[in-house]
Amino acid sequence: MRRRRVPLLPLAAATLLLLLSPAPPTASAPVATTDTVTPATPLAGNRTLVSAGRGKFVLGFFSPDPDDPERTYLGIWFNNIPSRTVVWVANRGSPLLGSVSDAALHILANGSLAIVDTTTNDAMAVWSTPPPPATTTTTSSSNATAQLMENGNLVLRVPGSGVVWQSFDYPTDTLLPGMKLGIDYHTGLDRHMTSWLSTGDPSQGEYTFRLDPRGSPELFLYRWSSRIYGSGPWNGFQFSGVPNLKSSSLLSFRFVSDPGHEAYYTYDLDSDTVLTRFVLNASGQIQRLMWIDMTQSWSLFWSYPLDECDGYRACGPYGVCSVERSPICGCAPGFDPRFPAEWALRDGSGGCRRRTELNCTGGDGFAALANMKLPESANATVDMSLGLDECRQACLKTCACRAYASANVSSPGGIGCFMWTGDLLDMRQFGSNGGQNLFLRLAASDLPLGSSAEAHSRTARLVEIIVPSAVGLLLLLVGLYFCVRKVKKRRKGVVPLPLRRNADNTPFGRRNQIAASSDAQDDSLHNGQQGNNKDCDVPSFDVEKIQAATGNFSIHNKIGQGGFGPVYMGKFDDGQDIAVKRLSRRSTQGLREFKNEVKLIAKLQHRNLVRLLGCCIDGYERMLVYEYMHNRSLNTFLFSKTSATVSTLNDEERQSMLCWEKRFNIINGIARGILYLHQDSVLRIIHRDLKASNILLDKDMNPKISDFGVARIFGTDQTAGYTKKVVGTYGYMSPEYAMDGVFSTKSDVFSFGVLVLEIVSGKKNRGFYHTELDLNLLRYAWRLWKDGESLEFMDQSIADTSNAAEVLKCIQIGLLCVQEQPKRRPPMSAVTTMLASEYPTLPEPCEPAFSTGRSRDDDDDEEHEDTAAKAYRSDSASSWTVTVVEGR
Ligand SMILES: *[C@@H]1O[C@H](CO)[C@@H](O)[C@H](O)[C@H]1NC(C)=O
Ligand SMILES: *[C@@H]1O[C@H](CO)[C@@H](O)[C@H](O)[C@H]1NC(C)=O
Ligand SMILES: *[C@@H]1O[C@H](CO)[C@@H](O)[C@H](O)[C@H]1NC(C)=O
Ligand SMILES: *[C@@H]1O[C@H](CO)[C@@H](O)[C@H](O)[C@H]1NC(C)=O
Ligand SMILES: *[C@@H]1O[C@H](CO)[C@@H](O)[C@H](O)[C@H]1NC(C)=O
Ligand SMILES: *[C@@H]1O[C@H](CO)[C@@H](O)[C@H](O)[C@H]1NC(C)=O
Ligand SMILES: *[C@@H]1O[C@H](CO)[C@@H](O)[C@H](O)[C@H]1NC(C)=O
Repeated sequence: MRRRRVPLLPLAAATLLLLLSPAPPTASAPVATTDTVTPATPLAGNRTLVSAGRGKFVLGFFSPDPDDPERTYLGIWFNNIPSRTVVWVANRGSPLLGSVSDAALHILANGSLAIVDTTTNDAMAVWSTPPPPATTTTTSSSNATAQLMENGNLVLRVPGSGVVWQSFDYPTDTLLPGMKLGIDYHTGLDRHMTSWLSTGDPSQGEYTFRLDPRGSPELFLYRWSSRIYGSGPWNGFQFSGVPNLKSSSLLSFRFVSDPGHEAYYTYDLDSDTVLTRFVLNASGQIQRLMWIDMTQSWSLFWSYPLDECDGYRACGPYGVCSVERSPICGCAPGFDPRFPAEWALRDGSGGCRRRTELNCTGGDGFAALANMKLPESANATVDMSLGLDECRQACLKTCACRAYASANVSSPGGIGCFMWTGDLLDMRQFGSNGGQNLFLRLAASDLPLGSSAEAHSRTARLVEIIVPSAVGLLLLLVGLYFCVRKVKKRRKGVVPLPLRRNADNTPFGRRNQIAASSDAQDDSLHNGQQGNNKDCDVPSFDVEKIQAATGNFSIHNKIGQGGFGPVYMGKFDDGQDIAVKRLSRRSTQGLREFKNEVKLIAKLQHRNLVRLLGCCIDGYERMLVYEYMHNRSLNTFLFSKTSATVSTLNDEERQSMLCWEKRFNIINGIARGILYLHQDSVLRIIHRDLKASNILLDKDMNPKISDFGVARIFGTDQTAGYTKKVVGTYGYMSPEYAMDGVFSTKSDVFSFGVLVLEIVSGKKNRGFYHTELDLNLLRYAWRLWKDGESLEFMDQSIADTSNAAEVLKCIQIGLLCVQEQPKRRPPMSAVTTMLASEYPTLPEPCEPAFSTGRSRDDDDDEEHEDTAAKAYRSDSASSWTVTVVEGR
């Protein structure tokens, strides 16, 4: 198990001893004597108060900036952890100008707690609490005490009046367990968090995080006075824009809204030994941090705002933001972009316009949008007495009502009613998890078909799919038009571009996969100047031509053998280099389906994908013709031992071509290519055979994925599912795919994770079924990571060129991708975001899938998995539990 902090019992005993006999502080012992300040015993200089019990917190004077010890503050920080982590500052705006030894904390005769400058004896000059209420007599005031509680609260008590002041009512940038973020309507107290100006300066910074209680209360992050992020209205269960905020056995979140009394957010920690804080940092990030004993550091648990869709009103009125599509802004069903030109330039802030105005007298209906962060609710009305059906009726009856939703989703079926009467703002849509249904009012003619709620939500999703593909189709048509024009021009005698010749005439080794051409060829190739191509976008080549180009499929031209058949290199008469994949005859497709598939695959065009030039059909023979790339595959460069025979380069040259910068670029490129396949392309392809030999490199060492979409040709459903025919390569296959034939985009994510670990380490993974340490790369990576020695995992040949932070980030992302549970693996969109951000919020990975046995238990625990699904961006309770509670 994990090592625990300093034994706590002896410390408590020591505190008690000191309490009983206030001995003069010695150099070795902590200077603390007690947890209380009284009029007779002020706190002066470098003495501190330590909370009784486990001694979790310290109150004392400090100078945050070592370069400026003449600015002194009174603060509370964690005891027993090495670097001082301040959670509260009394006089953040008015430091005592002097050193720590000049400061003292007194309880004045009138009962207020004040910082006193001992050089001038000037009370009240720096900071003081308001004096106790007038009802308090001066005699009882003189018996006031200020006590530092074990939860970090500094409490001022006056006999007879109880607590007259407490630090928890005046948060600075930190919310500790039990503190409230919100409004007390009786006292008018608005407890909010304000960032420090900078790490060394606790004065008020740019950012504020506070509750807006109007409508259904929502937390907003402000920069100066403008909003930059909203949590989404509270929906009885969670803030609708923070799906990951779920209570766990360790941390529980609460929101209390009692109109006329108070409204606040708070959280509780069910552990005496775990340290956690919720901070608004000086750069405007709202963060949860956990103290990790093992590393003796604060670990970032999550951080908001997280992505572009968290930007306040990112897509304008009636716009819906979703990071799962590109561009991220879309319009709600029944709406069109208000400023199409800006919209096309990916500025969605102008929002959307209703297609057909509402007819208030009848005929309006509702479209259901699933998994929504609810719109801002400042102007919304909330009626907890209505059910969802009554809510719908109420909305229909109110002409101004634009949408409705359940106001308490934690009740079965939902109770309570939100009704929005103004424009709908700040909406976003989450993936399958998070958010709730929003029912959007539309004119009859704009309504999707079907009327039940489920039908509605299905249609809402459909609309989302159809709209982008319609746009895609339009783009294709435009492309086709230009393409046709170009071909016509060519017929009029345009000279073909000079083609780069293959500089390297040595035979290629067997281990290489399809290769592809230099970039210079791309344009000329794509115009389909050869073959009897009828469609501009998918030329089909004569078999004679292919035979001539490949020396009748000569064994000397065979450059690889993939899961779907052998690959040959070839050269057309005009000098153009090609790679031909001869598909094995397993395909169950007819001719027309094959052609259709090829057409579709040819449309997949991305910088990080090898381009398909066309196909060739002859009887049962089917071939795919690709561009050829001269720098061969990643396999060649990465695993020098395995590819020693194939290369004209020696190891040193090869390695120098793969410095860390290049490797990081390759990792990024592969991620973008897969993201395109999974999300951004019209087809949504699952590759199913990602591996180093399928990553080809162009002359600038940019990675291009090959062999994508071939699985489609073998007639298997690509959306997700189950297959009996497991095509893939051991070592890269996810356990659920290899063992059960279940595949999804997350199987590709797994393979990507293996690739990342291979690229970083320069070692090949032999497959998860091996148990020996030296053979199993994932196990090796996990061991080192767990021991905090991940840098040892790195290929030593790049030690000089590497960037430790990037290397560690890649290793962690790799480990996240190879987690056993598919749902825990981040989607490629998250992977690319994590790779791109300099200080990403990375969850702690679970043990990767390298064991032979599989834990079935987790599969049954749906709730557990749902939570985990969002672990990549999240305060996922269960992922947290795994991190901290699991033995290390
Ligand atoms: C506190 O201050 C006194 C005198 O100002 C000094 O002697 C002592 O070492 C200080 N103690 C600590 C723990 O800094
Ligand atoms: C409390 O007493 C101090 C000194 O005794 C005085 O300076 C201060 O003004 C008093 N505060 C109030 C609010 O009366
Ligand atoms: C204040 O404390 C003194 C001594 O402990 C005690 O005699 C006195 O009654 C207390 N006064 C009040 C008002 O509690
Ligand atoms: C705030 O947090 C972000 C995200 O973790 C980090 O990049 C930034 O450096 C932090 N800012 C400060 C001032 O600590
Ligand atoms: C609204 O709908 C009703 C019934 O369908 C129709 O009679 C009326 O003309 C419509 N009004 C407007 C303004 O479209
Ligand atoms: C609420 O209503 C006010 C006044 O009509 C308007 O200025 C404001 O933009 C509205 N806020 C929202 C979030 O709709
Ligand atoms: C929401 O519903 C749950 C379950 O019925 C209930 O415990 C909770 O008090 C409700 N919250 C509000 C604000 O009505």
